Amino acid sequence: MKPTILALAAFIGFAPVAIADNTPVYLDKNKPLEERVEDALSRMTTAEKIDIIHAQSKFSSRGVPRLGIPDVWTTDGPHGIRPEVKWDEWDQAGWTNDSCVAFPALTALAATWNPEMSALYGKSIGEEAAYRNKDILLGPGVNIYRTPVNGRNFEYMGEDPYLAGRMVVPYIKGVQANGVAVCLKHFALNNNEVNRHTTNAVIDDRTLYEIYLPAFKAGVQEGGAWTIMGAYNLYKDQHLCHNQYMLNDILKGEWGFDGAVVSDWGGCHDTDQAIHNGLDLEFGSWTDGLKAGRKNAYDAYYLAGPYLDQIKNGKVGTKELDDKARRVLRTIFRTSLSKDRVRGSMCSEAHYDAARRIGDEGIVLLKNDGKVLPMNFDKPGKKMLVVGENAVKMMTVGGGSSSLKVQREISPLDGLKAALNGVADVEWVRGYVGDVTGEYNGVTTGQDLSESRSKDELIAEAVAKAKDADYVVFVGGLNKSAHQDCEDSDRAGLELPYAQDEVIAALAKANRNLIVVNISGNAVAMPWVKEVPAIVQGWFLGSEAGNSLADVLTGKVNPSGKLPMTFPTSLDNVGAHALNAYPGVKRADSDIVDLEYKEGILVGYRWHEAKKAKPLFAFGHGLSYTDFTYGKASADKKEYSGSDIITVTVPVTNSGDRAGAEIVQLYIGDPKSSVMRPVKELKGFQKVFLQPGETVDVNFMIDKSALSFFDADAHAWKAEPGEFVVSVGPASDNIKSTVKFKLK
Ligand code: BGC
Repeated sequence: MKPTILALAAFIGFAPVAIADNTPVYLDKNKPLEERVEDALSRMTTAEKIDIIHAQSKFSSRGVPRLGIPDVWTTDGPHGIRPEVKWDEWDQAGWTNDSCVAFPALTALAATWNPEMSALYGKSIGEEAAYRNKDILLGPGVNIYRTPVNGRNFEYMGEDPYLAGRMVVPYIKGVQANGVAVCLKHFALNNNEVNRHTTNAVIDDRTLYEIYLPAFKAGVQEGGAWTIMGAYNLYKDQHLCHNQYMLNDILKGEWGFDGAVVSDWGGCHDTDQAIHNGLDLEFGSWTDGLKAGRKNAYDAYYLAGPYLDQIKNGKVGTKELDDKARRVLRTIFRTSLSKDRVRGSMCSEAHYDAARRIGDEGIVLLKNDGKVLPMNFDKPGKKMLVVGENAVKMMTVGGGSSSLKVQREISPLDGLKAALNGVADVEWVRGYVGDVTGEYNGVTTGQDLSESRSKDELIAEAVAKAKDADYVVFVGGLNKSAHQDCEDSDRAGLELPYAQDEVIAALAKANRNLIVVNISGNAVAMPWVKEVPAIVQGWFLGSEAGNSLADVLTGKVNPSGKLPMTFPTSLDNVGAHALNAYPGVKRADSDIVDLEYKEGILVGYRWHEAKKAKPLFAFGHGLSYTDFTYGKASADKKEYSGSDIITVTVPVTNSGDRAGAEIVQLYIGDPKSSVMRPVKELKGFQKVFLQPGETVDVNFMIDKSALSFFDADAHAWKAEPGEFVVSVGPASDNIKSTVKFKLK
């Protein structure tokens, strides 16, 4: 208080009283996290601790009302904020203010190969989550793309552990900077949907550590993920939501994870295992308490009443309970009670802009013979024919738990019409009938896609109009219905459904300027690949889908995405299928299906290269409207001690006439080794934006970890002395320069 005020206070007859700060430590946002956690824990009863480690509704768990500690609210994830459901059911709550921006699906994000896009994605979706008062975003997913039939691949980041790891870290940091936790999922070995609750993964340690764990490890250790979700399936005969090996030994033991393990919805099966095998927060064990006839079904969850009973009757102590409660409290103090928690925003123009930029960068130009693309509308009066259901079908509804209720979704047709308004006539015909439904958990698209004409009539109509068009754009692929790109089921095969191959083949005969846009989160077979001059991989691009596609097709944006997975010519060239190691073998005496990862570390391009099988489109492949020229790669050392860093440099020039971006990829191979090693493995990449004529030296720093394999016997990473080959180029099957060095 200033002296004059003190004097005045004395004059009018009262003395100033200091107001005591009674804020308890756990509510003081400036106090260190662990102090807050211990303080809160010390004030809680055993029953209150039990209360915070299991669900109280479909998507929330209880806080400690007596102490002013709020409930925890979760939401799907991973590419938009799920609309509100009823307290106890999957049905819509009927809110009118819960529409969101749909960001491109994670395969599209991975296809940008741009960590800055991941950071933007995380920041944006985290802001949407915060605005909706969510504490945990149920995503991102980094399960490795083992087979193109996995219905959920579109939610993940492709086949390569290094790429997925580099891309997931900025996403996590971006989300969590808002004071919203990610829930990295589904940990681990959840690589197909069929039999997802009963599949027991049988896998050797080397494959586990080299292929299926690195992206999770990066997410935990470098991204600092605050929560992680156990997978539905089993490993070593234990469900992964309570699994001694995966959760206690690896995640919390080897990696030092201090956050909360959240069960997948209905992934918890047993109280004893849930107590001892690493689960911290149980969700979805059964859902509709009211219909199940209990007063409150949540009190009967494995980590609720049954756990409390065991403590009361002395069967278990409270050590595990305290550990679980600590982890949940940490989550609360990191999110809703953190000083970093933002207010957030929803459906802002900045978020639409982010979705569009990510989509623009994720689209992959697979083929462009005769430079059909970008489309050229220099003269007025040109005609464009758009063919295919996916040109008009909303793709944000369906697919399972990632289904959304969007404020807007620009279809490919609408995007093209808007971009070509006043420039060309755009007409659409159906071409094929795919999935005419449009509903998920009560969210409807409102589209009427019913069709009474026969397949032949639709093809005849498309062909007749194609003959007369300057450009024909076929937009097809998969969709979000069962057995397509959809949770809880896998695809029947690699082929495009709904006789699309017939439509495309007929169009290719009718018009030379045919562009096929494949909308999917998975590789598809393309028996017509030679007949079609231009092919674009369009993914599921969310709210701005049509605008992003139009940006690339019209040349407003120069495509720069690359495939995060191999497109095989057939399933025979996918290790899991070639070795008959999918979907596993059912045990005679139970429902358990043993799925042996027989192909080991040879997943995706690693398999193709080992078997010398030519892919349809290789991992890392993607074209541009400009050309890039690679100079000779060089290393700063010929002999490398392994204790520091070796730098590899390659000059890359934009030798075409448009500005564009190239993703320079670096692979490492160890030709002579005591163990089988892949021909080469991705260990570095950089996306560089270059003006026409511009050259840049792209530098890669490599350390010993990039040379190592996982030695299962020693349970350690090992790099063997000898010669290593570094390959640099624009795709895994297009190496422009190699350089060798020796590890001493
Ligand atoms: C999915 C999770 C999802 C959860 C909640 C489960 O069926 O596997 O990925 O987050 O449901 O909707």
